[in-house]
This record gives sequence, C-alpha cells and structure tokens, in this order.
Amino acid sequence: MANVTVIGAQWGDEGKGKIVDWLSERADVVARFQGGHNAGHTLVVGEKVYKLSLLPSGIVRGTLSVIGNGVVLDPWHFRDEVAKLKGQGVEITPENLQIAETCPLILPFHRDLDGLREDASGAGKIGTTRRGIGPAYEDKVGRRAIRVCDLAHLDDLDLQIDRLTAHHDALRAGFGEAPIDRAQLMADLTEIAAFILPFVKPVWLTLNKAKSEGKRILFEGAQGTLLDIDHGTYPFVTSSNTVAGTAASGTGLGPNAAGFVLGIVKAYTTRVGSGPFPSEQENDIGQRLGERGHEFGTVTGRKRRCGWFDAVLVRQSVAVSGVTGIALTKLDVLDGFEELKICVGYKIGDQSFDYLPAHAQDQAKAEPIYESIAGWSETTAGARSWAELPAQAIKYIRRIEELIGCPVTLVSTSPERDDTILVRDPFAD
Ligand code: GDP
Ligand code: IMO
Ligand code: MG
Repeated sequence: MANVTVIGAQWGDEGKGKIVDWLSERADVVARFQGGHNAGHTLVVGEKVYKLSLLPSGIVRGTLSVIGNGVVLDPWHFRDEVAKLKGQGVEITPENLQIAETCPLILPFHRDLDGLREDASGAGKIGTTRRGIGPAYEDKVGRRAIRVCDLAHLDDLDLQIDRLTAHHDALRAGFGEAPIDRAQLMADLTEIAAFILPFVKPVWLTLNKAKSEGKRILFEGAQGTLLDIDHGTYPFVTSSNTVAGTAASGTGLGPNAAGFVLGIVKAYTTRVGSGPFPSEQENDIGQRLGERGHEFGTVTGRKRRCGWFDAVLVRQSVAVSGVTGIALTKLDVLDGFEELKICVGYKIGDQSFDYLPAHAQDQAKAEPIYESIAGWSETTAGARSWAELPAQAIKYIRRIEELIGCPVTLVSTSPERDDTILVRDPFAD
C-alpha cells in the first residue's frame, strides 16, 4: 500500500502544508478529506509564498488534487482561492482539480451564525475561525445541507430550503437577525454554480480507479488530532474528525486506504483559539518561541499561543490516529535555547496522569510534569541531512521518539520546501 496520510498531531499549524507539498512530488493524487477553509497552509518555494485554505496543497505542483466528500465547501471562497493561486502562476483546471459531488456547502448564513454565536459566548467562546465550519457540519448531520451536486438541480431545492430556513430563521430570530432572504440565496447559488460545476466529479470513483491502478494517493489532513470532534479537547475543537481514519470515509475509499500515517509534529507546541494547553508558556519563553517561529495564524492573523513540547499529547495522537511515523517540524525554532523542557505527564490535584483525561475541567487543571534536556547553540536552520544536525538536537529528537513511541520519518528545518531531512521514505513502506 503506497498511500500516505498526513495528519496534524497537535492543535494544527504543525507544518502539514509544507510536508504535503514536499511529498506531493512523489504522489499521483492529493486528497483533502475533512475540514474546510478554516485550514491555513503556508508553502514556501524559493521566493514564492503560497497560502492555501481549501485547495489541496498538491495543486501547487500541478498534481491531481481532489476535495473529498468529508470537506465542507464555501463556493465563493473556492472561487477566490482559485483566482488568487492562478494569479501566482499556479495552473488550475478541471483536469487537475476535482470536487466531490457530495460536499456540503458553507452558505452565508453559516458564517453569520458562527460569528453571532462567538460574539454571544463571552468567556466561553471557542475562538473559531468564524468561517461557518461548525454550522455547515451541523446542517450536514441534520440532513438539511445543500450539497455541491444540488448546484446542478437548483430548480429542485424548495424542500431543502424549507428545511434550512425553518431551522436557521428560528436561530437568527433569537439573535435579532432578519430571516434568510430566499430570493437572494437562489440568485447567489445560481451565479456561483456556473463556476463550480466544471470541477464537480464522482471523486470516490476517481480515487478508487487510482487505487486499482496502483497510483499513489496522498491524503492531506487539516487541523490536528487535539482539535478532533471526538478525540480533541472538547468543546474547544473543530467540527470534524481530524484523525487519520477519516481519510477513508471523507473520500469514499475503504479503511485500508490510509497507508503510511504520517503525523506532523511541531518541535514545540502551539494553539490558536481558546481551550486547555497544559505546557503553555505565557512568559519570555512563549514570546521567544512565537517570535522565532512567526506564530501568527494564516487564516485569522491571530497570535498563536506557544509552549513546550508535550509528549503526552503527541503519544495520545499517535495512538488514536495509528501514526506510523512522524515529521518533526520547526526544529530550527529551538536553536539557541540553553535548556528545553518536555512535558511527560500531568498532575491533577494529587493524582498523576500519563494521558489527558477527557473532562474539560480536568484538562484545564492539568499541571505539566517536565523533564529537562540541554539545548544546542549551533544552528539547524536549513539543514538537509542528518549529519548537519548538532548532537544535542539529535538527542532531543531521540528522546521525543522514545516518549511518543513512534519513529521520526522526516525533519523540517525551515519553511522552504527543500529544507527537509528524509530519514525514511513514507511512500516506500
Ligand atoms: P499547517 O496548517 O500545518 O500547514 O501549518 P501552517 O502553514 O499554518 O504553519 C506552519 C508555519 O511554519 C508556516 O508559516 C510554514 O511556512 C512554517 N514552517 C513549516 N516548517 C517549518 C520549519 O521547519 N521551520 C520553520 N522555521 N518554519 C516552518
Ligand atoms: P490548519 O489546517 C489551527 C481552531 C480554531 C478554533 C477551533 C474551532 O491550518 O492546521 P473552527 O473554525 O474550525 O470551528 O474553529 O479550531 N482551528 C485551527 N487551529 N490550525 C487550523 O487548521 C485550524 N482550524 C481550526 O482556531 O480554536
Ligand atoms: Mg495552519
């Protein structure tokens, strides 16, 4: 099985985009399987910087890219992102980009609701990207969604729109908002349908055909395991399953399709939005990590919260996603730290834990137990071979492998595509 599934093993922004772009040279198809344009993936290729939210990162190399059924799709954002990338010289046509017929649409009132709820939540707010992701998934599960394939049957949408307006108008009234303007919605959908429809295909067929021809499929996860709706720090999570198992259900392939599960892991920890973060450093150390790592969100521009590497959380992610190997990214950000700390357990009251308990109150109270390891004064930035790494950096990597129970497959040492150390080729497994 020569497929590779890339997932984030922390709270997102681990550097998935860079690694997917790097790996997509070896792939025949790149597939997104969950999330939407809440993702923000930055790719640096020489002088060029590409920022993708909805399109699979493989598109930058021209690799056949597909948006699977598990993704929620904002068609207006799709059009804008295609235009932006085309403006940067990326070729995008229905020949190299396909959208699944069954993707639910993110509509303007989903975005409204996301924002209205966040504004009304006060201290309890989740800190979402306000892009309508949660409300769109709610409508999918509630069987009210308008899906991509409906764009070809706009004259047959009355019942579905009845369902949607009955649900949303009640919610909107609660926020003092006007009901949905049906005529405007139909006009907007009619206008965007012409742009979207040429890209729409039975993606499950494309992928099953690729599979039977022995082609290499690279699945690109968004967000991270700790933002997973089931396995993450609920309720401070996103509204999809971000674990590797979703690669199959989110594209229309069987459960053996995932192949090599590559967990992307930042050499320290960051989080954007609210929620527990035991190893967070709200001090000079966090400040230094944020400055050296340029930790600002791609989608919202928000400052990311920063802290030490949390081996407990990554070990948990390795387990729930069945991670085969990890790509350790942003090692260079740790250059010059005299001492590094790694979280190896938690204390909650007088109890010790070697995993993060499920309850939000326990998670909020979890006090990290650290071990210290000496840092290195040399630079790792731009290293492209293991031999270029200082001995102490190798010790840090080895200790992480031991603590998380999973080998390092790739190491990333700068934002640039080729500043990547290949330890073991995930496609060769
Ligand atoms: P994603 O959401 O997982 O794709 O990650 P993001 O793109 O949101 O955030 C990762 C950021 O770190 C991006 O700005 C990347 O260009 C950058 N980056 C990726 N790998 C490395 C690395 O090894 N070192 C440094 N310094 N930056 C990196
Ligand atoms: P990538 O793919 C980091 C976070 C939001 C918020 C929570 C819910 O770039 O790693 P949502 O808009 O999904 O309902 O927000 O999830 N979040 C991310 N954090 N990276 C992401 O994607 C994220 N996508 C969502 O900040 O805390
Ligand atoms: Mg990101």
